[in-house]
Amino acid sequence: MATEQLQGAPLRIVQVGAGGMGRAWLRTIAAEPGAELVGLVDLNVDAARSALADHGLEGVAVGTSVAEVAAATDADAVVNVTVPVAHLPVNVEALAAGLPVLCEKPAAPTVADAIRQAAAAEAHGRLLMISQSRRYYAALDALRDEVAGLGAIGSVVTEFYKAPHFGGFREEMDHVLLVDMAIHAFDAARFVTGADPVSVYCEEHNPSWSWFQADANAHAVFTFDDGSRFVFTGSWCAPGLETSWNGSWRISAERGSAAWDGGSRVTVDDGEVREREIDPAAKEEIAASLAEFLACVRDGREPSGSARSNLRSLAMVEAAVQSAETGARVRIDDVLESGLALALATEQDPSVRAVLEGPTLRG
Ligand SMILES: NC(=O)c1ccc[n+]([C@@H]2O[C@H](COP(=O)([O-])OP(=O)(O)OC[C@H]3O[C@@H](n4cnc5c(N)ncnc54)[C@H](O)[C@@H]3O)[C@@H](O)[C@H]2O)c1
Repeated sequence: MATEQLQGAPLRIVQVGAGGMGRAWLRTIAAEPGAELVGLVDLNVDAARSALADHGLEGVAVGTSVAEVAAATDADAVVNVTVPVAHLPVNVEALAAGLPVLCEKPAAPTVADAIRQAAAAEAHGRLLMISQSRRYYAALDALRDEVAGLGAIGSVVTEFYKAPHFGGFREEMDHVLLVDMAIHAFDAARFVTGADPVSVYCEEHNPSWSWFQADANAHAVFTFDDGSRFVFTGSWCAPGLETSWNGSWRISAERGSAAWDGGSRVTVDDGEVREREIDPAAKEEIAASLAEFLACVRDGREPSGSARSNLRSLAMVEAAVQSAETGARVRIDDVLESGLALALATEQDPSVRAVLEGPTLRG
């Protein structure tokens, strides 16, 4: 649908993925006046039908192909809530059909695949935004505002200590904390500081009492391009004094310090200690991410979480994993360069290859 026709009317959305998080998205889209769910796609159509029935949603088309359901419903946009390995094929199918896409984090299982889909978005001239939902908190916005007024940043420290018993794949996967969780804090550190990571040194280990097969503890020190350091220290088997799911944050800067408890408490000391008022009614998490996506589709703006700008957050994870495996400091640009080389070695679409060979994704 042409941009001018999109003004005013709710955007017609096809959601792909009707699993656990897909159900949260169904409720979020239903509560958003600027969006209307017209299709639900899943390889398992029974799962899609039962998710719709459980939410009392009627008149929504169901199918297994995003391009077919989008064409049948005259959709304007796609929300992709499939498993990470399916993000690239589903995103590319939707982009090639001319639709902008909002895709769940992590963008893809590898930086190479994330680069390929960012290039596909450029090649097809459509928006691909990654929903890093833990970027969207009123308290995080307040923290960012305060930090901007404190002068040069020295260090940012995030402590993440939780003790969840998930069962299932997480208790068996490698690098579980870094790969499944830390991207939220890594991405939020870029958001809060406005700076970008240059390199990382990271260690992982598994405490003797861990109920995870792989290392559940990780400690990473990133150098950022403003000279500051971002220190992430975390554990997924840390009973007692647990932090928020956002972790607990401290920023030390030239003219003072700021702290966030990961909930609604932001404390600043710039010579005088004060607490920031946080709007309890602000849209947060996936509701705020959806609102930003809709606004960007309507007015053609680039969102803060475009697929291209998200590449460095994903590269932080891959670099931290490489550092933990090798014991060496790893440069983010090296991870992006080898991701680009791998993307070029695998990508077949000539128009996407042309973007990969050009300067757009190298910035
Ligand atoms: N933002 C957050 O806090 C948060 C929390 C949980 C999960 N997530 C993310 O949400 C995404 C989905 O996670 P989940 O827990 O709902 O997974 P899930 O396994 O419960 O559901 C995934 C669904 O996608 C479907 N699917 C898989 N491949 C498909 C394909 N090619 N085409 C169509 N459907 C396909 C599956 O059949 C399944 O119904 C993941 O990227 C995950 O990391 C984000």
